[in-house]
Amino acid sequence: MNHPCYICGLGSCIPPRVMTNHDLEKLVETSDEWITTRTGIKERHVLEDGVNASDCGVSAARAALDEAGVSPEEITHIFVATCTPDYLCPSTACLIAGKLGISASSGRMGRVMCMDFNAACTGFVYGLELARDVVAAHPDAMVLLVATEALSRRTNFTDRTTCVLFGDAAGAVVVRGSDKGALWQVRDSVCSSDGSLHDLIKIGGGSACHVKEGDVIGADWFISMQGMAVFKHAVRSMTEESQSILARNGVSLEELDLFIPHQANLRIIKAVGERLGIDENKVFANVQHYGNTSAATLPVAMEDARRLGLLRPGMKVLLTSFGGGMTWGSVLLA
Ligand code: UT7
Repeated sequence: MNHPCYICGLGSCIPPRVMTNHDLEKLVETSDEWITTRTGIKERHVLEDGVNASDCGVSAARAALDEAGVSPEEITHIFVATCTPDYLCPSTACLIAGKLGISASSGRMGRVMCMDFNAACTGFVYGLELARDVVAAHPDAMVLLVATEALSRRTNFTDRTTCVLFGDAAGAVVVRGSDKGALWQVRDSVCSSDGSLHDLIKIGGGSACHVKEGDVIGADWFISMQGMAVFKHAVRSMTEESQSILARNGVSLEELDLFIPHQANLRIIKAVGERLGIDENKVFANVQHYGNTSAATLPVAMEDARRLGLLRPGMKVLLTSFGGGMTWGSVLLA
C-alpha cells in the first residue's frame, strides 16, 4: 500500500569558498576548455578548513526545518546520506542531532533515531525511500533527511582525472506523513544496485585500508574512478530507472513539469534527457556552478530550481541519480 508521504521543508548549504577551473589549472595539467567541454563544470565550492560535512548539513537542515515550521525537538529520525562523513564513528547524523540541540528524550515519539547511510551519489534518492518506509510504519514520524558531502577532503588534487569533478555542499528535507505545509508528495521511489560494479568508483580509508600511526597516506585514500565505464552506466541506469517509475505511475513525459537528474557531468545530463525524449527546457542543470557534490546534488538542485522559479510546490518532478556501488534510483514528486 502506498502511504502518503510529504516533503514540507527544503534547504541547502553551499560553502562560500569557490574553486574555479583556472584555480585547478595551477594545480594539475588541465585547462578550463577541457573541463568545460568534457563536463560542463566551471567552478565548485569547497569547505573551509575546520568546517565539516556535519556543519554544512546543519545549515541545510536549519533552513529545511524553518520552512517546515518544525522545531528540532519534533524530529523523530535523522538520516544522513554521505560518503564523506566527519568520522567513521560517531555518525554524522548524531553529530547533526547534537549541533541542533536534539537530545535523547526529544522527538515527538519520545526518542530520536540517528543514522548515516552510504549510497554514494544516490543517497538522496535512497533516503527518500527510507523516509517513505519510516512514515508508513510510524505515521507520526518527522524525518530529517540530510545529504551532505565534504568531497574536497577526499579529492586527490594531483589527479587530474578526478580533481576537476567534485565539490562540497549539503541539502536537507523534512519528510512527514501529514500534508500540513506540504511542498510535494513523495509519490513513488525506486532504488537499485549492482555490487559486481563496486570497483568503478572508490574512496578508501575504511577498515580495508591497513594503516598505522605515522604511515604516509597513499593514493587509495582518495576518490578513484573509471570515468568512461561510469559514464555509460550512468546514462543507461538513470534512463531506465526513470522510464520504469514513470510507467508504473502512469505519468507521461509531457505531464512532467521538471526533470532533475544527478549533477555529475553536463554530457550525462543531456544524454539522459535525449534518451528519455524529454523537452530539454524541462531538464534542470546546475553542475556548472558546483561540480558533482554526490548525495547533495539533488536537494541543492531542487533549491536552485525553486529560487529560479522553475520549481514550485505541487509540480510533478522526476529526480534520478546514480553513484558508487553501483547504486541508482528515481523518485517521483507531485
Ligand atoms: O557521481 C558519479 C561520479 N562520476 C561520474 O559521473 C563520472 C562519469 N564520467 C565522466 O564524467 C567522464 O568520463 C570524465 C569527465 C571523467 C572523463 O571524460 P572522458 O570524455 O571520458 O575523458 P577520458 O577519461 O576518456 O580522457 C580523455 C583524455 C585522456 O587523455 P588521452 O589518454 O586521450 O591522451 C585523459 O588523460 O583526457 C585526458 N584527461 C584530461 N585532460 C585534461 C583526463 N582528465 C583530464 C583533465 N584535463 N582534467
